[in-house]
Amino acid sequence: MEEMLASMEKAKAEGADLVELCIDSMSFSHTSEVEKLIKQRALPAIVSYRLKSSRTSGKGECKTTCMQVLRLALELDVEFVEMDFEVASDIGMAECMYKRANSKIIVSSFVNGGKPSNERLGNLIACMQSTGADVIKLVIDVDYITDLAPVFQMLAHCQVPLIAIAVGSRGLISQLLGPKFGGFLVYGSLEGKSVPGLPTLVSLKHVYKLEYLNADTKVFGLISNPVGHSKGPILHNPAFRHTGYNGIYVPMLVDDIKEFFRTYTGTDFAGFSVGIPHKEAAVGCCDEVHPLAKSIGAVNTIVRRPIDGKLVGYNTDCEASITAIEDALRERRVANGEALRTSPLAGKTFVLVGAGGAGRALAFGAKSRGAQVVIFNRNYERAKLLADAVSGEALPYECLKRFCPQEGMILANASAIGMEPNTDQTPVSKETLRAYELVFDAVYTPRNTRLLQEAAEVGAIVVSGVEMFIRQALGQFRLFTGGLAPEDFMRKLVLAQF
Ligand SMILES: NC(=O)c1ccc[n+]([C@@H]2O[C@H](COP(=O)([O-])OP(=O)(O)OC[C@H]3O[C@@H](n4cnc5c(N)ncnc54)[C@H](OP(=O)(O)O)[C@@H]3O)[C@@H](O)[C@H]2O)c1
Repeated sequence: MEEMLASMEKAKAEGADLVELCIDSMSFSHTSEVEKLIKQRALPAIVSYRLKSSRTSGKGECKTTCMQVLRLALELDVEFVEMDFEVASDIGMAECMYKRANSKIIVSSFVNGGKPSNERLGNLIACMQSTGADVIKLVIDVDYITDLAPVFQMLAHCQVPLIAIAVGSRGLISQLLGPKFGGFLVYGSLEGKSVPGLPTLVSLKHVYKLEYLNADTKVFGLISNPVGHSKGPILHNPAFRHTGYNGIYVPMLVDDIKEFFRTYTGTDFAGFSVGIPHKEAAVGCCDEVHPLAKSIGAVNTIVRRPIDGKLVGYNTDCEASITAIEDALRERRVANGEALRTSPLAGKTFVLVGAGGAGRALAFGAKSRGAQVVIFNRNYERAKLLADAVSGEALPYECLKRFCPQEGMILANASAIGMEPNTDQTPVSKETLRAYELVFDAVYTPRNTRLLQEAAEVGAIVVSGVEMFIRQALGQFRLFTGGLAPEDFMRKLVLAQF
């Protein structure tokens, strides 16, 4: 009981409007203890008692205790009293439900077995409503994010106040998008007590700010697996609000990207960032692909075109990384009083480490600026394929450490070398770095990699992956909203995170 009281105070401090007191999860010897807890509540509350998770031993004993607790909550006029459908249907509950004063009754049911059909959910809601429920709650066990589509349809069309939430990490968007589709309330976990699929209360209050959501809110998200690491929500959501754009950006844990786009076809789902491992498959999901993204063979941004609903794919990684490098070179040229008519990359030797998604974007970008691209990759075949595509050269990976045929080259690391937790790794020795005028590292965790530290020590210009991250996000924001991105605002947000 002490723990519940403390949690209630914490929820209040974190900004909750309502707390759920799950009485079945606490030990008590007499209902007078429950009465004391209810009377001491710091916030309006839902008093719930679930039969399945009850700590009491036998089923009969459990149901008796459950009924006692729920009756007590109704007598004490608690704001919401939640009971299982089985209990609400019991004749023994009927009278006190009927005689309740101000309490609202939430009747809940667990739905399992994969993707629920609209018909199944509709029938269940109708039966639950007949108990006299004020609010219906469905807790749904889904296997895939695509199983949630009927849940959103039900939320949007249900005539009774409805809470419909899916459990597990694939269910997270059922919580975050609930208010858009008319959901009655959203659950959040306390800081330090994370539950898979449940957003933290702090993120609801400070990142997603669900109070601004309505039926017209456009949905954006990062399609990725895994998706938990994403910084997108903490960047795009504040930027939407800063510019007055009615949008929300959520993490979407997607297993099958083709199935995702077959399922979510509505204009509500307006734009997507694409992450690991879907960037290449995303090309095939789009109705149209920007020529640059097509030649790179990877899409990291998809926008649903408002006029015809077609999916258009882009790659903002390429321009983000190349312009970051160009701008740093230009700054040096301007400082030296040199004329700037062409790209400062034109005619340069551009040494690229890595031939994955980021590597491909950099290779095509460097080629488009007239640079000579030399590629080193752990897997030589991959380097060769990319080199052929950009009329460049692939060299054996072992030669990289001491490769210095000339002075003033550009080095771009687009491999995972040096990324957390392997922060002591670096692709090129410090001595060899003297051959480079500029060193770029796509790795952004940590912000200042060993490669960048050593490059700065030998006097090279350094460009961090954080700069690429900011620029690709600015590009995505422009494509998502069709408007200008609040650059200074977004820059400050990103720099505060890394
Ligand atoms: N700053 C940004 O906005 C941004 C955007 C995208 C990516 N990135 C970063 O860029 C890096 C690559 O991302 P990606 O999307 O291109 O990933 P990816 O498609 O999975 O490619 C990974 C690349 O890293 C190489 N690699 C991995 N581990 C290695 C090791 N131990 N030794 C040598 N090479 C290794 C791979 O070589 P093999 O082909 O031999 O496997 C491949 O070239 C990551 O650190 C990522 O965080 C940054």
